[in-house]
Amino acid sequence: MTKWWDVRNEPVDASHPSIIEAAKLLQSGDTVAFPTETVYGLGGDARNDTAVARIFAAKGRPQDNPLIVHIGDQRQLDQLVVACDEVSTRLMDVFWPGPLTIILPVQPYAISPLATAGLPTVAIRMPDHPIALALLQAAQCPVVAPSANLSGRPSPTCAEHVLNDLQGKIGGIVDGGPAKVGIESTVVEVVERVVHILRPGAVTAEQIEAALRVTTTDLNYNVSVRELAENGLEVEGLRIYRKQIDQTDFVPKSPGMKYTHYAPSGTMTIVRSDSPDRAADWIREQLRLAEERGERTGVLTFNEHETWYEADHVLPCGSINDVTSIAQRLYDTLRQFDDAEVTCIFTDCWLSGGLGGAVMNRLQKAAGYRIAHV
Ligand code: TXA
Ligand code: MG
Repeated sequence: MTKWWDVRNEPVDASHPSIIEAAKLLQSGDTVAFPTETVYGLGGDARNDTAVARIFAAKGRPQDNPLIVHIGDQRQLDQLVVACDEVSTRLMDVFWPGPLTIILPVQPYAISPLATAGLPTVAIRMPDHPIALALLQAAQCPVVAPSANLSGRPSPTCAEHVLNDLQGKIGGIVDGGPAKVGIESTVVEVVERVVHILRPGAVTAEQIEAALRVTTTDLNYNVSVRELAENGLEVEGLRIYRKQIDQTDFVPKSPGMKYTHYAPSGTMTIVRSDSPDRAADWIREQLRLAEERGERTGVLTFNEHETWYEADHVLPCGSINDVTSIAQRLYDTLRQFDDAEVTCIFTDCWLSGGLGGAVMNRLQKAAGYRIAHV
């Protein structure tokens, strides 16, 4: 049985009875899902092999994809990492608590080797959410927490998403209402004072550069190209986005980069064009063909374009002018396509820069990098 604590409308701290109960479950080696500002996480005691193994098993997560350790107090770092360079320390000072995960050299034997997938480094973050912080304080241990979804599905942005994926497979769920950010934390690793962005998120390259006066690099671009090539995305009738980069020896910096993520079960195609009208015409034609093939069709679009399309499910994911709300609603919208068993999805959404870039990173992964230029 999976326990359920509803603390949505209550002030919560480490002495709240539900938090104490949830913390006890964590201390006993069980798993508890809880809200963070980004998405819901599936927590377990980072030091406990059994707890960590339970997380991998519940999610069906590949063993070589390491987990993020969540801390509620910066002093916990001393026991977790061997050293912390100056730039990483400044990142913590500026962005913690918040949606930024930092990769650091792990202190041997500090946490279960299952959690780091045997890597010499560990990913650490301090979430900016009162319930997460209360639970971390009450549990009094470092807590590993991947997103609380079945591996490959969109991350959960509310407690019901967690229940749909993991009911009966985990110890409990703390319901704290919908997540504020909606996409996962930015993951960075500092190498020789350069901040490498392994996964874009709500803390943007622009913010990091402005706050620290350092250089950032985005490693995701290269990964996209590699994934494209590996998946051989030659889709008939579509011209696929492809740039020439020699990727033969590419080893992903972050193991999570190489897995398909966030994907609805239907086939999704992102449609790009200089002309929104041309994109819409092309999508309408593809929808007609898909319907002829007997597919159940869907369109993911901006609120402003909702009336442009006729499909089994036209789902608006927010205003073109409000990227914050698009990030918040993206995963819920992708899940709605699954609930409706949509098999063929088109989207005319394209955003760039800052949080928009992070949203497009998730959308491109959801589409398996299937991008049609029309
Ligand atoms: O916002 C978030 O980060 C959420 C909430 C729950 O905190 N957590 C989350 O965890 O997204 P997860 O497990 O779904 O993603 C962790 C990412 C993966 O891409 C993984 O490969 C990467 O972090 N990662 C973990 N440890 C790493 C390491 N030592 N080196 C490089 N990448 C690492
Ligand atoms: Mg995840």
